[in-house]
Amino acid sequence: MMKHWESWDSEYIWHPYTQMLLSPHALGVERGEGSYLYLSDGRKIFDSISSWWLTLHGHANPIIAEAIAEQAKKLEHVIFAGFTHEPAATLAKKIIEKAPTGLAKVFFSDDGSTAVEVALKMCVQYWQHHGEIRTTFLALDGAYHGDTFGAMSASARGTFIKPFESMLFDVIHLPFPTPPQDNTKEFSKSEELFLDKLRDHAKNDKHIAGFIYEPLMLGAGGMKIWRSEVMREALKIVKESGILAIADEVLTGFGRTGSFFASDECNISPDLMTLSKGITGGFLPLGVTLASQTIYDVFLSSDRAKTFFHGHSYTGNPIICAAAVASLSIFENEDVFQRISAINEVHTERMPLLARKMEYNFRIKGTMAAMEPKNPEGYLSSKSLQLRATCLEKGLLIRPLGDTIYFLPPYSTTKEDLHKAYDILEECQPFLRF
Ligand SMILES: Cc1ncc(COP(=O)(O)O)c(C=O)c1O
Repeated sequence: MMKHWESWDSEYIWHPYTQMLLSPHALGVERGEGSYLYLSDGRKIFDSISSWWLTLHGHANPIIAEAIAEQAKKLEHVIFAGFTHEPAATLAKKIIEKAPTGLAKVFFSDDGSTAVEVALKMCVQYWQHHGEIRTTFLALDGAYHGDTFGAMSASARGTFIKPFESMLFDVIHLPFPTPPQDNTKEFSKSEELFLDKLRDHAKNDKHIAGFIYEPLMLGAGGMKIWRSEVMREALKIVKESGILAIADEVLTGFGRTGSFFASDECNISPDLMTLSKGITGGFLPLGVTLASQTIYDVFLSSDRAKTFFHGHSYTGNPIICAAAVASLSIFENEDVFQRISAINEVHTERMPLLARKMEYNFRIKGTMAAMEPKNPEGYLSSKSLQLRATCLEKGLLIRPLGDTIYFLPPYSTTKEDLHKAYDILEECQPFLRF
């Protein structure tokens, strides 16, 4: 029986990334706990994708919930221009202490897309303060950086972006550096090609403002992974040319790839870094853009026109910052990386076997494991919808990216939870025959 509020949903709500004609009814969720969601019809489902890659320590984590409640009773919000508060200052200090060396300042915004917008705008204005007009960016083929116009421009031209393509600014997408098939240390042809193109643009194109990249793992582009050796080489090239490096860690931050930040796997720091998703443990929306001292200093001027004119009404919201501080305190007080390793162990045991059985390609990085057929159909693959529905009936929430099936579970996930998820996927084999 549908609850009364579920019928209000169908009547009044337009859901994101949803073709409303084909999926007019959203599933009602009454509550969440750990890695599970409890539906209004009584079902319990395993959230294998951390609800769009947000939930870190589990749904309704009591430590974060308590911090939010306490802060809400003290100060719910204050204008962040000219005012500050303890949760924002504490959060900024903690993030900078964890961030790659050289990142010195924290700029708050609302979500991953706005964190990216801020980074792109800082980059363009940085060059203007240097007396140069540079408005072209370099990015990776297959990249996804968000849904606002700047973030869409930086993203690969694909299904999501097609209707808006003519309105986007210039971004040169470099071929994705696919790692070699074997474990050789040498660069693959694809990695060489990426580095050659990057070198060429960095050396010869004086309009390039920055290089934006998802460190080590492309999320929405199909959970594709690239190697830290290549990232290091790319950053060397970029640094030598003076172009700014923007690491988009909206997905990869906070342990997802097995390191606190994916950028930690490379000993060259980016100039700008974007964070969101897991930053509040998945409780509240927050975007953060980290900038180097050099970038920050370029904006310091007695000329007020050189201010960085960007800000959102909710910038630096105290409740959101308190949630993020609480999430970081869990990293400080509990062995979160042990949980991350346990997830990785199950992936390493199960994913290669399943993928081989299905004759799929697969990849594993930290808490992420993905597989896809050798000849993928692409994002609009209809078979993946059937697979999703069947898994759901069996108590497993997945959301394939086209025909790329992946797990990226919350860190509250036990080995038993994840083995069960793999068992369900194995039972769905007929739907995996694309
Ligand atoms: C790497 C990356 N950057 C930016 C974004 C955009 O974040 P948001 O959806 O919070 O705007 C995403 C979202 O998936 C992402 O994966």
